[in-house]
Amino acid sequence: MRYLLGIDLGTSGTKTVLFDEKGHGICSATVEYPMYQPQNGWAEQDPADWYNAAVSTIHTVLEKSGVDREQVVSLGISGQMHGLVMLDENNEVIRRSIIWADQRTAKECEEITEKIGYDNMIRITANPALTGFQLSKVMWVRKHEPENYARCRHILLPKDYVRFMLTGDYATEVSDASGMQMLDVPNRCWSDELLEKLDIDKALLPKVYESCEVTGHISAEAAELTGLSEKTLVVGGAGDNAAAAVGTGVVEDGKAFTTIGTSGVVFAHTDKLSIDPKGRVHTFCCAVPGAWHVMGVVQSAGLSLKWFRDNFCAAEMSAAEAMGVDAYELTNQEAAQSPIGANKLIYAPYLMGERTPHLDADCRGMFFGLSAMHKRRDLLRAVMEGVTYALNDCKSILNGMGVEPETMLACGGGGKSPLWRQMLADVMNCPVATTINTEGPALGVAILAGVGAGIYSSVQEACREMIHVNPAQQPIAENVPKYAAVYEVYRKLYAANKELFKELGRLE
Ligand code: XUL
Repeated sequence: MRYLLGIDLGTSGTKTVLFDEKGHGICSATVEYPMYQPQNGWAEQDPADWYNAAVSTIHTVLEKSGVDREQVVSLGISGQMHGLVMLDENNEVIRRSIIWADQRTAKECEEITEKIGYDNMIRITANPALTGFQLSKVMWVRKHEPENYARCRHILLPKDYVRFMLTGDYATEVSDASGMQMLDVPNRCWSDELLEKLDIDKALLPKVYESCEVTGHISAEAAELTGLSEKTLVVGGAGDNAAAAVGTGVVEDGKAFTTIGTSGVVFAHTDKLSIDPKGRVHTFCCAVPGAWHVMGVVQSAGLSLKWFRDNFCAAEMSAAEAMGVDAYELTNQEAAQSPIGANKLIYAPYLMGERTPHLDADCRGMFFGLSAMHKRRDLLRAVMEGVTYALNDCKSILNGMGVEPETMLACGGGGKSPLWRQMLADVMNCPVATTINTEGPALGVAILAGVGAGIYSSVQEACREMIHVNPAQQPIAENVPKYAAVYEVYRKLYAANKELFKELGRLE
């Protein structure tokens, strides 16, 4: 039997899963790490935490499973997208990574748009300049930390930094490179035009591969640290959402999934390049060679519930620890005791600004309609509903672009909650299903690793063999209009507060 390894470098932690070549999970390990917020709207992480987490989780799964390292033929890495990693001439990390959730770069986005032109930006990168994406972070460091920029010899993405540490290769692949915003997305290569206009040296950028291509193999040093064989191949891998698409079988037209991780995403595969002219949803190359995807992104999906749990649910957290269960099981039970609409309480999940549909770095979260009668269970339910409404905003835009999936696959930590899945089904008025293997991004990159190693001839063939779907949860007819009425109020909240968010941002 041959084995494949999937490493999922997320925002809250890294999870590594060992699969057999049929896609059965054998063993997994997770290590968490912090996100630093030096200012309101900023978000940074330490690349050393990512690498240490990758090394230790690989080591753990190999040891726990007892699998012979020579049988681990290939691995893939899925990564949180957009983060900026800068290396100096000795390959040392220059500064903490400014990650996807960071919103400090609104001015740089204006500058990029001015220099390249809005329409050109869409023509080349398929998206408007956005604060979440890597390019504006590069421009920010150049302007605010010129000494760091001058020392920079290599620009990498989070997962590609871990690849570099494991293999010594400076490489990326099309799905994650799309979110750097220096890639010519229609042609799947770096854009000389954009790089020249912004005066960015192409030599700083890694080589671009398709997601299932082999980019190298494990170095002697990394083999020693992780317990892997030097023969283990490393494939391109994918940005976390493109990886989750493969891991849920969303690799053909008409298929879509939604994920509730730290961020939330509604994602649809498309064989033809399709762009929202208003830039409210992103168009990126996907992990299937020659194809793309469109996706809407909610900045703070699981992050909203985690924020609420960490700050207001100490009792649930200690009870969960004593009972040996996940604290979210208890918060779910509490939320389920509040009715649809959370007793007229609405939450807007803009903790870290919002991308789809508002593209606004300044907006912030809110509870609307608080009353003295509200209990914690209402706030919990309102948080889960608010995230669901935000995901529905994403789905509505995809619907407007002609993407009408019959079933929505759900994944990510939030997708594991039957209550949240039912909310998705009722709010989106669409059946919501899960895959039997719920490893999503880790399975997705293991599948890409299987294609790279020649076990499967294509990503689609591998998915047909390895992905199996559970029966869908159907929308409950009487719930649909109840949620629709609350959603109507939710939709108006952003517009009503748009200017106030700016005023709030200007306060000292
Ligand atoms: C996608 C995005 C997030 C991150 C973190 O554009 O910013 O989904 O990939 O998960």
